[in-house]
Amino acid sequence: MVAIYGKFLYRGEIIEAGIEIENGVIKDIKKTIETEKVEKIDGLILPTSIDVHVHFRDFEESDKETIESGSLSALYGGNCLVVDQPNTNPFVDNFDEYEKRMEIAEKKSYIDYTLNLGLTLKNSERIHEIIKKIEEKYRIPAVGEVFLQHNNPEFQIPYDVLEETRKKISKLITVHAEDPSLIQDTRPPEAEIEAVKRCLEFGDFHFCHVSTYDSAVLISDTNSTFEVTPHHILLNSEDLKRFGEFSRVNPPLRDKVEAEMLFNVLQLADILASDHAPHTLEDKKNGTPGFPGVETTYPLMVNLMRRGLIGIRTLTNLMAINPAKIFGFEKYGGIEIGNYANFAVFNLKGVSKIKIERLHTKAEWTPFENFEAVFPERVYLKGELALLNGDVLIEPGIRKKEETDPGEVEESEKNTGSSEN
Ligand code: DOR
Ligand code: ZN
Repeated sequence: MVAIYGKFLYRGEIIEAGIEIENGVIKDIKKTIETEKVEKIDGLILPTSIDVHVHFRDFEESDKETIESGSLSALYGGNCLVVDQPNTNPFVDNFDEYEKRMEIAEKKSYIDYTLNLGLTLKNSERIHEIIKKIEEKYRIPAVGEVFLQHNNPEFQIPYDVLEETRKKISKLITVHAEDPSLIQDTRPPEAEIEAVKRCLEFGDFHFCHVSTYDSAVLISDTNSTFEVTPHHILLNSEDLKRFGEFSRVNPPLRDKVEAEMLFNVLQLADILASDHAPHTLEDKKNGTPGFPGVETTYPLMVNLMRRGLIGIRTLTNLMAINPAKIFGFEKYGGIEIGNYANFAVFNLKGVSKIKIERLHTKAEWTPFENFEAVFPERVYLKGELALLNGDVLIEPGIRKKEETDPGEVEESEKNTGSSEN
């Protein structure tokens, strides 16, 4: 058994105590630690974050990002687990593509990896059967992100199909809410608000990257949940000129008032997620939408905490505890006995400026260039020191401590048929 000792948030209080670790899991938390193998940690020990919205590309778009490069970037950003999105080439709307990605992750991912199943017009009739088949082997975090608007008609899901799907499956469905009838040359706030309203009429969803105050308030009054990205609260349309040809992202950056209003109600949000959407410089110049962010989200937010602009409880709820709860990732979340010993250690005096050349994504541009951030000095994954002062100490490949990794279904669960209908 090993142990670390330091400052961390435990059951709502910041305490200074020891954390005993056994077999990758937090065994005990106590004031005094008897074991000789205790390491005193300077800085603040936070739970690692879970980024529930990343696009790690790979497959035919390995020039933009791979599961290996994306997960390395995620590790440097203090993440222990990601939820990858299915809009890859080829699209993940069937068992074979799902399995292929999971097998790549098994060998190449630096951190724990899960993958959403895509909903298309082609597979919507059989979605419950596909879920069933995949869940005999893996655990799907959600169906989505479902595109209500997409340039490829096969991937654009009309409301009635979404409604039918909602009735048919109990699995979490994550929605990219923008109403196609309100999108022409621009993608106005009303397109998002309208889509959110329509979806809320027929069921509970998880809304990706909500970018308006009105949507946030609407959703927070229901059983549905939602994500906010750092770019929709820290950037706004006044930045577009500076970004020039790189500025496109969906949903788009809103005006300054909207972004501030959204930041102001951040506590209503369930999750902060990056929507890490890396593209080549050439694609960006041609107007392809998307910003990278898996490495910068937590460091940007920890810097805001350092400045007193967000509290430690809100931060850990949005980055670790709620993502685990909403997506059902057992043993992930806050620093708690029985959870994995996944920690990111931050020195709050270690402020640096974000520079694209220091990030580990394949993307060669970040909207947060020169923003202040606090990167983690250490990252522990299941008790193992994985990152120390900028050096990665682990090899890629998913570390299995137990059979309950989120990507794989336990034997008992399979037999009782408790997976998706
Ligand atoms: O800007 C975006 N880029 N928004 C999305 O919803 C998809 C993403 C991508 O995959 O590039
Ligand atoms: Zn999206």
